[in-house]
Amino acid sequence: MTAGVEETVAAARVGDALSVKDLVVTYGNRRDPLRAVDGVTLAVPRGQALGVIGESGSGKSTLVMAIAGLLPTTSGTVDIAPRDGDLAPAARSVGRGGQVQVIFQDPMLALSPSLPIWRSVAEPLAPGNLRVPARFRATAVELLGQVGIGPELADRRPAQLSGGQRQRVTIARAVAAQAPLIMCDEPVAALDISLQAGVLRLLDEMRRTRDLTYVFVSHDMTSIARIADQVGVMYLGKLVELGPTRAVLREPRHPYTQALISAVPTVSLQARARNRTLLPGEIPDARRPPSGCRFRTRCRFAQDRCAVEEPTFGPGEAHQVACHFWPEIKDAATP
Ligand SMILES: Nc1ncnc2c1ncn2[C@@H]1O[C@H](COP(=O)(O)OP(=O)(O)OP(=O)(O)O)[C@@H](O)[C@H]1O
Ligand code: SF4
Ligand SMILES: [Mg+2]
Repeated sequence: MTAGVEETVAAARVGDALSVKDLVVTYGNRRDPLRAVDGVTLAVPRGQALGVIGESGSGKSTLVMAIAGLLPTTSGTVDIAPRDGDLAPAARSVGRGGQVQVIFQDPMLALSPSLPIWRSVAEPLAPGNLRVPARFRATAVELLGQVGIGPELADRRPAQLSGGQRQRVTIARAVAAQAPLIMCDEPVAALDISLQAGVLRLLDEMRRTRDLTYVFVSHDMTSIARIADQVGVMYLGKLVELGPTRAVLREPRHPYTQALISAVPTVSLQARARNRTLLPGEIPDARRPPSGCRFRTRCRFAQDRCAVEEPTFGPGEAHQVACHFWPEIKDAATP
């Protein structure tokens, strides 16, 4: 880690709900390890949302699962600050002693197909019970009401709901768990476009009214722009850019971020042609990342130094970028 990143994390410590330092998560065996998350450092202030973007395979899901404590970490630290009045960890369920909940792209991963939805919502209220006692029904129905699911639907099974309704149920369940930190891994990606805005609005409202902190993974820049206060950009297990959402999306500094943003679907054929030039080829094999800057094999600005020296974040400012030459190439931004 550079001194710059150290300074940023230390400075953001007071009031941070989440602080991740030098996190490494490895798959595979010792002889052929795959460092899916390779030295990630970040901090999320309480009540804010960090958006995480990056191509498929860049390590986004691995990062959120490791933060949630659902994957073992190889090294590094994850600190989650409890809120005043949070329940004692022993009284709650799931990730990191109940401090983290995860909302997945597929709501069925969090819901039991055979249970009426009110019971799935109430489960975190009654940890350790094989069958949720009926006395928790009223609270579950109230929570369902808060996410726009009426009491007439409370006894339905998940299969009897629409995709959007199911995702609302998982949000109610996450809220019921009273975890201060919620990991959202592509929570609206499987939904019809007409339902996405409603679920995003709900997530945003829950965050504000319940003092929640989010890490929000998405391929969709529109969702990121709507919900995230800051954005982290991942490439081959590393953060290559991190900063306030507006700055990262409007004035991306890293050539990779520039390419990702310009690749947002557009009807312009000219823009599509340009995207192919900006981000050529496939993401390399994560088991054997390129030396120096991992992005160099696809970077049109790469120079000799990029093959031998790994760029690091610096120098401790709010909008950070890991590229040796970003000041010279920032004018190439084409969002
Ligand atoms: N269980 C696993 N065992 C081995 N390798 C894995 C495992 N899960 C993920 N990987 C690898 O780790 C890397 C990161 O995967 P990850 O699922 O975190 O990416 P992602 O950014 O979430 O991708 P996507 O956008 O497709 O969801 C990839 O190279 C992937 O092939
Ligand atoms: S360090 Fe070099 S290869 Fe990496 S993004 Fe910057 S210019 Fe491209
Ligand atoms: Mg993923």
